[in-house]
Amino acid sequence: MPHTKKLEELHKKKNSAHEGGGAKRIASQHKKGKLTARERLDVLLDKGSFHELDMLVRHRSNSFGLEKQKYYGDGVVTGYGRIDGRLVYVFSQDFTVFGGSLSEAHGEKICKIMDLALKNGAPVIGINDSGGARIQEGVASLGAYAEIFLRNTLASGVVPQISAVVGPCAGGAVYSPAITDFIFMVDKTSHMFVTGPNVVKTVTHENVTFDELGGASTHAQKSGVAHFNEKSEVNCLQNIRKLMGFIPQNNAEDPPEQQSGDAPDRIATQLNSFVPTSATSPYDMKEIIKTVIDDGEFMEVHEEYAGNIIIGFARFAWKPVGIIANQPMMLAGVLNINASVKAARFVRFCDAFNIPLVTFVDVPGFLPGTEQEWQGIIRHGAKLLYAYCEATVPKITLITRKAYGGAYDVMSSKHIRGDINLAWPTAEIAVMGPKGAVEIIFKKELEKSKDPEALLQQRTEEYGETFANPYIAAERGYIDDVIEPAQTRPEIISALQMLENKVDTNPKRKHGNIPL
Ligand code: HXC
Repeated sequence: MPHTKKLEELHKKKNSAHEGGGAKRIASQHKKGKLTARERLDVLLDKGSFHELDMLVRHRSNSFGLEKQKYYGDGVVTGYGRIDGRLVYVFSQDFTVFGGSLSEAHGEKICKIMDLALKNGAPVIGINDSGGARIQEGVASLGAYAEIFLRNTLASGVVPQISAVVGPCAGGAVYSPAITDFIFMVDKTSHMFVTGPNVVKTVTHENVTFDELGGASTHAQKSGVAHFNEKSEVNCLQNIRKLMGFIPQNNAEDPPEQQSGDAPDRIATQLNSFVPTSATSPYDMKEIIKTVIDDGEFMEVHEEYAGNIIIGFARFAWKPVGIIANQPMMLAGVLNINASVKAARFVRFCDAFNIPLVTFVDVPGFLPGTEQEWQGIIRHGAKLLYAYCEATVPKITLITRKAYGGAYDVMSSKHIRGDINLAWPTAEIAVMGPKGAVEIIFKKELEKSKDPEALLQQRTEEYGETFANPYIAAERGYIDDVIEPAQTRPEIISALQMLENKVDTNPKRKHGNIPL
């Protein structure tokens, strides 16, 4: 064959791969408000940076007439590209080819880029839009899924793994995104569930829509499966780019810096009067966070889930940190099961990827009640405690108001290797709130009193003056310094800079046994 013919053949095959499942199916994809697999990569990656691998792969199945339907690429576009110049490996499932369903060959393509990502120390971003296992391929498809799950697990904590779920993701297929570090979903067009509405109806007789069962809002608000609930696919892909700006390429690197004109020594006098004088009045902890970080740019994670704790990424003096903060505006900032689990996973992500932790504390304790106890607040609260204890990245803690009881210990206290523990003068570090404490230790005196209410008030005030302050903890060195709130930004930055070369280790072991 003359070379021109060979080139023609090559172009024909590649053009055919670019056409996916054909114009009609692409039009149907667009009609649903969805982008195609390749259009998604165009938004996600730096312009012109994508290099495709395995474009010419086709499935090897001969069952159910599949031998007559072979598409180049086999329903997934894989390769590598750049985000802000930094290498990432990507796969993007093509719903126009067999509904993006996962065949043996499709799975092998994904595994190939995951193996490359691990060997070369770069993140994997998976764009999921799939009808699940390629039904015609049976167990070969199930095997291919398991190969992916294994790689997700081995890559966990070594390279960041991000999932965008931008269409269906059902059955066992959900477990690949579930093992990855962050899941992005898109309102109305993404769905994740282990069994769909029809099976649910048969088994539990519940009538539920796709969206109610496994839509983006359900997973962002109720289950906590989704970390980000995006309005559109474009927003979703752009926010993945943004997230990448806070995280390193792998567990041996530091996160990237981003320049800012925000002066490290900027003081914020408004913070001196920010905390209300009444210990029970709420205030918005996010305001404090945004006031002290670089340019007020906070990328909140799990924004719609367990709002009593806030987690997310920010920068201090150009360098990324992970922020964990109790939110007095929601349930008084109490620690419950969902908040503990949410924050624990985030602490572990940051620790795995060398991202310092900055913790803002205003916590009245763990949430009491049968519901929490019976669902295992002991087991789940222990996750957060465990995560903070094992974390060896720089840990800065600032107590703005309450730090009561076990929650004081849990929230990155000095005793569990907090490196620099600061408090505002409004901090109250005690076993419990003054009123509760007085009701217990003066129980008999109150019972005998002719005016128990007046006595309760008097004793509560005395207790508050004696114990509800940061100075007893500071006398013992549990608090390194009590600072003027206005100085919070410069204080946190100088602590982070002092800890830049911190090295700390845990005992050698196969792995710990976090209470799951
Ligand atoms: C092969 C599939 C497929 C699949 C869809 N298609 N799912 N082909 N295997 N799993 C094909 C359809 O035949 C159709 O082909 C095209 O993809 C588009 O599908 P539609 O049904 O027309 O699209 P839509 O109406 O948007 O519905 C999407 C859907 C539905 C909700 C995902 O297709 C569906 O329910 N699919 C089956 C889902 C499922 O049960 N999967 C197995 C789950 S178990 P044509 O040629 O007409 O374009 C599982 C186990 C994983 O995944 C285990 C891992 C451990």
